Amino acid sequence: MKILIIGSGGREHALGWKIKQSTKVEKIYFAPGNAGTATIGENLAIGVCDFSSIKKAVLSNQVDMVVVGPEVPLTEGIFDFFASDSELKNIPVIGPSKDGAKLEGSKDFAKEFMMKYNIPTARYQTFSKGEASLGAEFMKTLTPPYVLKADGLAAGKGVVIPETIGEAISELEEMLSGKFGEASDKVVIEEFLSGIELSVFVITDGKNYKILPEAKDYKRIGEGNTGPNTGGMGAISPVPFADNDFMSKVEKNIIKPTIEGLQREEIIYKGFIFFGLINCNGNPFVIEYNARMGDPETEAVMLRIKSDFVDLLEGVANENLDEKMIEFDERAAVTVMMVSGGYPGDYEKWKIISGVDQVANSIVFHAGTNFKDNEVVTAGGRVLSISSYGKTISDALKVSYQNASLIHFDNCYFRKDIGFEFE
Ligand code: AMP
Ligand code: GLY
Repeated sequence: MKILIIGSGGREHALGWKIKQSTKVEKIYFAPGNAGTATIGENLAIGVCDFSSIKKAVLSNQVDMVVVGPEVPLTEGIFDFFASDSELKNIPVIGPSKDGAKLEGSKDFAKEFMMKYNIPTARYQTFSKGEASLGAEFMKTLTPPYVLKADGLAAGKGVVIPETIGEAISELEEMLSGKFGEASDKVVIEEFLSGIELSVFVITDGKNYKILPEAKDYKRIGEGNTGPNTGGMGAISPVPFADNDFMSKVEKNIIKPTIEGLQREEIIYKGFIFFGLINCNGNPFVIEYNARMGDPETEAVMLRIKSDFVDLLEGVANENLDEKMIEFDERAAVTVMMVSGGYPGDYEKWKIISGVDQVANSIVFHAGTNFKDNEVVTAGGRVLSISSYGKTISDALKVSYQNASLIHFDNCYFRKDIGFEFE
């Protein structure tokens, strides 16, 4: 098979790494990929939402399956674009339909869906332009801090958590007046939940599903979970508190009703569901849905899947996922993200990366890299994801840290306390 992976980050490199291990795969293409994906497949200089160029590339390279990494092509309807095109309709796209991607693309849609299907989530109300004073009234019924979410996609920045009612009211006014553009035309206000977060991933053909290894990511830039949010600074899998008892609650109260809800709503969903969960006193609640895999979680999760991943993807495409087996690697897996100094604020690019050839016993996934004058250089905030196995999470982290210390680019930074709560 020839498989096209859409995207250019560490997640896509990790998906490609796992897909390449399948005996069913002849060639992998990436659109657009990065310097790392170029070592395992062919990069095509095509943007993730340039559907007409994707179509041309799929037909001219006889691609048999498309795997979508990021959310934007999904919310823009790449699945529907293929399904409604006479030349593409038999080529499976692993990713939900545009309607399914609304689970991520509209927080209001996701909350309404959870309410309808009795899926545990924070109490909420949604407010539109002109309703700031109603929003303020609702906030007065909540205890601080306040959680305000732009309804639409806002590149991971659309959630604001003010401490006081005064700040919350002015934040709501700013959001409804276009702080996040159209994405904050509607704002979801919800109750603050306390607990530890984790990411649970499911692959589904729309009626059957398989639960993938769970993971925990570390979003803050600074050690001890301090400083601004990033795309993710590292991840661990398994998550120590996600024992059988907890995971059976996740499956019964969250995963099953979500899949059943999608079926009841007649939403076509053949892809990944990422449940952003929080553990509140042993009970899982949904913080958010994403219509894709997580990044950097994928760079740990892929290591823990023993089964042929392409066989699972075929199960999704052919709607016979119930006939497939998924086996996990018993070892722990972690990833540590090396980022450009200054990230998530301003940072410089085009720094030469050295030392990757010294790495032993880790897998280096490229997140933001490119080629310049035949050298591999930094091309993003998140640059490299150093993934390792270990008997325990701490063992795996030691290997990643040892290898990260061998890699260099100007101003590189990584957190040295990934997994710290579980030491
Ligand atoms: P989201 O973009 O929905 O993942 O939200 C970003 C982050 O805000 C989450 O990872 C949580 O840390 C936090 N968050 C979102 N909703 C809540 C909530 N209801 N209670 C507490 N924290 C929340
Ligand atoms: N790691 C969180 C995300 O991919 O959204």
